[in-house]
Amino acid sequence: MAPVTQRRVGNVVRVSGPLVEVEGIEGLAMLELVEVGPYRISAETVAVTGPRATLQAYEYTGGLKVGDLAAATGAELSGVLGPGLLGQVFDGLMRPLSMAPLWLAPERTGSAQANTFLERRWNFDPTATVGSRLAPGDVLGTVPDSGAVEHRLLVPAGVTGELTWLAPQSRLRGSDVVARVGDHDVRLAERAALRRQRPFRTRHAEVVPLHTGQRVLDLLFPLARGAAAAVPGGFGTGKTLLLQQIAKWSDADVIVYVGCGERGNEMADVLEGLSELEDGRTGGRLIDRTVIIANTSNMPMMAREASIFTGITVAEFYRDMGHDVVVIADSTSRWAEALREFANRNGDLPAEEGYPADLSSALASFYERAGRVTTLGGRTASVTVIGAVSPPGGDMSEPVTTDSQRFVRALWMLDRDLAYSRHYPAVSWTGSFARDVDALGAWQATHGRPGWVERRARAAALIAEADRLESLAEVIGVSSLPGHERMTMLGGRLLREGVLMQNALSANDGFCSVEKTAALLDLVLDVVAACRRLVEQGIAAAAVEQVDFGPVLRAREESGPSDAAGVAASRTVMLGRLEQLL
Ligand SMILES: Nc1ncnc2c1ncn2[C@@H]1O[C@H](COP(=O)(O)OP(=O)(O)OP(=O)(O)O)[C@@H](O)[C@H]1O
Ligand SMILES: [Mg+2]
Repeated sequence: MAPVTQRRVGNVVRVSGPLVEVEGIEGLAMLELVEVGPYRISAETVAVTGPRATLQAYEYTGGLKVGDLAAATGAELSGVLGPGLLGQVFDGLMRPLSMAPLWLAPERTGSAQANTFLERRWNFDPTATVGSRLAPGDVLGTVPDSGAVEHRLLVPAGVTGELTWLAPQSRLRGSDVVARVGDHDVRLAERAALRRQRPFRTRHAEVVPLHTGQRVLDLLFPLARGAAAAVPGGFGTGKTLLLQQIAKWSDADVIVYVGCGERGNEMADVLEGLSELEDGRTGGRLIDRTVIIANTSNMPMMAREASIFTGITVAEFYRDMGHDVVVIADSTSRWAEALREFANRNGDLPAEEGYPADLSSALASFYERAGRVTTLGGRTASVTVIGAVSPPGGDMSEPVTTDSQRFVRALWMLDRDLAYSRHYPAVSWTGSFARDVDALGAWQATHGRPGWVERRARAAALIAEADRLESLAEVIGVSSLPGHERMTMLGGRLLREGVLMQNALSANDGFCSVEKTAALLDLVLDVVAACRRLVEQGIAAAAVEQVDFGPVLRAREESGPSDAAGVAASRTVMLGRLEQLL
């Protein structure tokens, strides 16, 4: 904070869209917030040169003129973190959206959130012992009526000392002091910097899977908890639907869904979907363990830039309590466009495709906040980051896509041809990758699934070989291929349609347990093996191809989401049907 003798007020000298230049404010710091114009629009300091500073405004700058007042606030972008975030919708600056279209209202940043979240009362259950010596991350108590996961009130970072007072079990306001640790008052809800990474103790090297319930991902391109994944895909290839499925079904404790520059009605869909869905683990609604941050395409551009970091900071807030959190950002391309728009107005020398030269480090600063860690309080917890990328024209060589690939552990690339042929989710098995496959396989082997690695390898080999034969068959004709190769092609089709395709809109198929995924794959692999044996025994390939494989293709929709036994029954039916050819 600047000394009080400094002049903390200046004037606007230039406005261009969200870019505002001011002059005359002394000691302005990078990231410091400035309020500009009669409506005290919030703007963040992004460059300082002598008496001039460049700001990015978080609201619509219409009406702002040269000469308008600009007043430094001495504060950075911050929001209130405390009970009551779950189930709510915020904008990129952490202002609640359920109340009114606040982003156009002439209010001071965060004041509306402060009112809602600091004034509301919560039940507080103390758990710490007065007189004990506490350190950052230690639990003071819990707030049982705040969402579906346990809300733990922690000793903040940097605070150590004796607990001299703790509120009894009571109903408290967010702004109330709950505990005194050393000489520090801890409140139920506190204002926190939204751009700064929250501290933790150490990163974990051990790799543990995040189960998404989406077969093609869990089977072929699995993701570890605390890792990052990118989902690039052209227009309408199914990015949003896939991310929504992960939000609904992945086995995380908390989901932070950042809708970034996408259509407003899609946000409404997400909300509606989550509100309707029952949470298999708590029996409540899924929305009660979700925080939504919405900066849709009609909202001011630069709050979109902030929204991604706000999302990660909220995720880290729950991570610090010991929860596994997934942050979903749809779409990082719209976010990069905000960076580009601002850089161009600022006259920065454009790099590739007009994006600023630091696009890659901006993307890194987002993805690198993913991690599975030991928190300050000694709990193991994680933040997993999944970002959609919408390359213009589906051009996968554009900068946001190529840069994102460098920072993620898994790439789930959506393929236009698959989407056009209505193969959903359109995750390409040739263009995608997962860097932690071996480590995750080792984890599966030590956790009761010794067959996982081999099964995955057989599936990958079958689909690759079927692809190769299909290209060949297009040239020389199917009938020229030997029988066992035709059976491989048949197997490829069964694998694609019976296992990799997954109907997001089906109650049975939308989510798939690990065991049902394994059973479906076993069904296909065993049926293919049986078909090969038939051909070896002299049955014509064409005769096998004509068999009705309905039980294989329908098993995923006919048996329940976790019903591996139902799938095994289809296997018996299908193998019996093939026997009859002999
Ligand atoms: N798993 C799925 N099951 C059934 N239908 C799907 C699936 N995935 C995508 N679709 C279909 O594809 C359509 C487009 O999907 P979605 O909106 O998710 O694409 P997108 O890549 O996010 O598009 P945009 O580029 O416009 O953001 C959906 O409305 C739906 O009809
Ligand atoms: Mg979309």
